[in-house]
Amino acid sequence: MEFFAKTSISSVKSDCLVVNISADKRLNETALIVDQATSGGLMRLVNSGDLTLKSGKTHWLCAPEKANYKRILLLCTGEKSTGMSETDLINCAQTIAKLLTGKAIKTAVWDLDGLNVAGRETEWICSQIAQQTQVSLYRYSETKKLESPPPALRKLTVHCRSSQELRAAKKGFEVGSNLGDGINFARMLGDLPANICTPSYLADHAKSLSTAHEKLKATILDEKKMERLNMGSLLSVAAGTEEPAKLIVMEYKGKTTKSPIVLVGKGITFDTGGISLKPGAAMDEMKYDMCGAASVFGAMKALVQMNAPVHVVAIVAATENMPSGRATKPGDVVKSMSGQTIEILNTDAEGRLVLCDALTYAERFKPKVVIDIATLTGACVIALGNHATGLYANDQALADALLNAGQNAHDKAWQMPLWDDYHKQLKSNFADVANIGGREAGSVTAACFLSRFAKNFKWAHLDIAGTAWKSGAAKGATGRPVGLLVNFVLEGASGL
Ligand code: BES
Ligand code: MN
Ligand code: ZN
Repeated sequence: MEFFAKTSISSVKSDCLVVNISADKRLNETALIVDQATSGGLMRLVNSGDLTLKSGKTHWLCAPEKANYKRILLLCTGEKSTGMSETDLINCAQTIAKLLTGKAIKTAVWDLDGLNVAGRETEWICSQIAQQTQVSLYRYSETKKLESPPPALRKLTVHCRSSQELRAAKKGFEVGSNLGDGINFARMLGDLPANICTPSYLADHAKSLSTAHEKLKATILDEKKMERLNMGSLLSVAAGTEEPAKLIVMEYKGKTTKSPIVLVGKGITFDTGGISLKPGAAMDEMKYDMCGAASVFGAMKALVQMNAPVHVVAIVAATENMPSGRATKPGDVVKSMSGQTIEILNTDAEGRLVLCDALTYAERFKPKVVIDIATLTGACVIALGNHATGLYANDQALADALLNAGQNAHDKAWQMPLWDDYHKQLKSNFADVANIGGREAGSVTAACFLSRFAKNFKWAHLDIAGTAWKSGAAKGATGRPVGLLVNFVLEGASGL
């Protein structure tokens, strides 16, 4: 899919021309051209009252004879005086993308005139247009034939009114299009079944990314290497599975800095709960327990593709969590790489067990900040539903930057407390710390557990248990929080 920006679209041929109509019925330049070509037909339609002139409403029209475009898609942009809200703009971009990808349309042209959002520039608007279009193109087809032909859309050209607007549009497309690719990559990895998407499969993807991009280096640590590093906590989760665990490290040097941003992803490719076996209902959804890892992969793909001038290290802790004769048992005590001993009171609280060793490993990169991303707790879904990702941080400036990045990307997070009061719940009589803290505040105590392994750097934790995938008829990975992460790395991190 390609995105273009032009200051003149009169000679551009397309399968569809998207025309913005505002509620005040004043036609923009493109609308006037259509009106003329239809001998005033557009104005008559607008005045007829047949169109609902509310933001996001659309209407298909047949193109006049000998026009450069085959169809016209009218989009109402709401009241011109007030402009659109950010959500309105994103909804419009989604609506147009859905309609364009739902028909045999290969090329489309869209005049930006009328897409105005208070406080947002053309770059942001075009980034959203490109991102939403890419996201609409996603079809899961790895293990299933498509029910309808794949979208034909290949090319979207927007009309800009000045060379300044044109430059901004191009910049927005560069970010949004690659971000959309990254989101779709994360969705694909999430949606893949666990018999395909194994730790080794994820490791292979890291290697392919590094082969495709010179500035990205991939290193895979196998179980032997993890043993030598004393990653007893991570390996205790892998004890019950036949699938070899992998610690996947990717380093992208778009710019070399002394202190990279480190992203750590939970990569449990299937979570049965282990000996503390989960109930059967909806257990298939535990293939999504590697969505933290998937979001790290998606963010890396987006950043390398846009050749971003940043320095990022990705660490993915990948294993299955299975019961077996060799599996870790409740009550077992293991020693983490940090030296802290952990009493595993519930083998289903495995995410924190793999993450704690990955966090300790992150220290060697002398990180500017470390952010872990994990489908960590059902309790977070109870607290925040599927609207916001749970955010925890040991540094308020970092928390603020992540909250802001989430706002910009419309991939929202909400900050939760990491107070000392909660740490008591993790007391163990037999180890330095227990891996569960009881029913109350389950998402908070999980974050408190992780914070004990993040004392030597600025750290934040994103609990994406509620936001990473959808259940029910629309079951599928969302690609969250790739938008938040890329936004943070590109802009938010600079002030820290
Ligand atoms: N991967 C799950 C968390 C999860 C559950 C995410 C359901 C999304 C939907 C995690 O490994 C887990 O099982 N957590 C336990 C922790 C508990 C044993 C303290 C949970 O949330 O029940
Ligand atoms: Mn679990
Ligand atoms: Zn899990």
